[in-house]
Amino acid sequence: MQNIWQLLPRPFFVLAPMEDVTDTVFRQIVVSCGKPDLFLTEFTNVDGLFSAGRDMVIKRFDFSKKELPLVAQIWGIYPENYFKAAKLIVSMGFSGIDINMGCPERKVVKMGACSALMNNKSLAKEIIQATKAGAGNLPLSIKTRIGLAEIQTENWIGFLLEQDLDAITIHGRTVKEMSEVPAHWDEIGKAVSLRNSMQKKTLIVGNGDILSRKEASEKVETTSVDGVMIGRGIFHDPWLFNTKHFGDLVSKEEKITKLIEHISLFTSYWGDKKRHAILKKFYKCYINGFSGASELRSELMLKTPLEAVATLRAIAQ
Ligand SMILES: Cc1cc2nc3c(=O)[nH]c(=O)nc-3n(C[C@H](O)[C@H](O)[C@H](O)COP(=O)(O)O)c2cc1C
Repeated sequence: MQNIWQLLPRPFFVLAPMEDVTDTVFRQIVVSCGKPDLFLTEFTNVDGLFSAGRDMVIKRFDFSKKELPLVAQIWGIYPENYFKAAKLIVSMGFSGIDINMGCPERKVVKMGACSALMNNKSLAKEIIQATKAGAGNLPLSIKTRIGLAEIQTENWIGFLLEQDLDAITIHGRTVKEMSEVPAHWDEIGKAVSLRNSMQKKTLIVGNGDILSRKEASEKVETTSVDGVMIGRGIFHDPWLFNTKHFGDLVSKEEKITKLIEHISLFTSYWGDKKRHAILKKFYKCYINGFSGASELRSELMLKTPLEAVATLRAIAQ
C-alpha cells in the first residue's frame, strides 16, 4: 500500500480531528459540501479500546468508504495498547495512524497522556515505537503543540523529527495558552526550517485560526508548510474545502437543505447512541448569513430533531 502522506497534493488541506464533531456523520456531510484532502477521526483512547467499554469506544472508528483517505487518531497511556490498536487500525482499512500529543484537557494531562507526553519523552518514544511495530507499513503521524508552559519548538519538535514520522501537525500554541492567544505561525515556520536543516522527510502541517482556503494558502506562502489543517473554520463554513463553491455564495435554501440532510443522517445513524445536544452545536454552521437566521436558530434549539426537520422543510418549500 502506498503512503497516503506522499500521495497528497502540495499544499494539502486537512479537516482537524474534533471530539464530538468529526464523526462519520459529519465527515459524510463535509464530503458532500467539499472534500478536504484528508480526514482524521476524533481522538480515540487505546486503553478504552481494550477495556469493558470497548463497544462504545470503537464506534469512533466507524467510517464509510467515501470518507477515505482517513487517518485514525489515538491517545492513551500504555504502549502495549498502542501496539494492539495499531494492528486493529490496519485491519479496519484506515489510511494512517495519528497519535495525539497535544490535547490540553486537564483530565487527560493529569493521566500523563497527550500533551503531558511533552514532559515525558521516554514514554513518548516508547509509544511511537510500539505504534510503529503494530502499524507495519501504515504511515504514522503526530499532532502536537509547540510546548507546555513555554514555547519549546526546537526542543520538542526537534525530538519528534528524530523519530522519523511521516508527518507532524503543529497547532501553533503552547498547552498553557489553550486557545486564548493567536496561533504562533512563526513557530510553525521555524519547525519547517528545523525539518529542512535536519534533512528529514517528515511533512509539516500547520494548524491554528485558519478560516478559509485563501488564508491557508497565505500561510503556505509565508511558512512553507506542506499542508494546513483547519478545525473550527468548518463551523463558519461547511463548504470551506470546496474549491469552487465558497460558503458566502451558498443560498439560504441550500443551507437549510444541508441542515435537514445533516439532522436526518445523524438521527438515522446514531439513533439514541449520541445526545441530541451534540447535533444542536451544528445548527449555527448552516443557519447564518440570511435575514431571520438568528431567530430561526433560537427556535430550532427548542425542538426535537424531528420537529426541527419539519420546521426546516416548511421553510425550504
Ligand atoms: C470541539 C473541539 C474538539 C477537538 N477535538 C480534538 C481531537 O479529538 N483531537 C485533536 O487532536 N484535536 C482536537 N481539537 C483541536 C483541533 O483539532 C485544532 O487543533 C484546534 O481547534 C485549532 O485549530 P483551529 O483554530 O483551526 O480550530 C479539538 C478542537 C475543538 C474545537
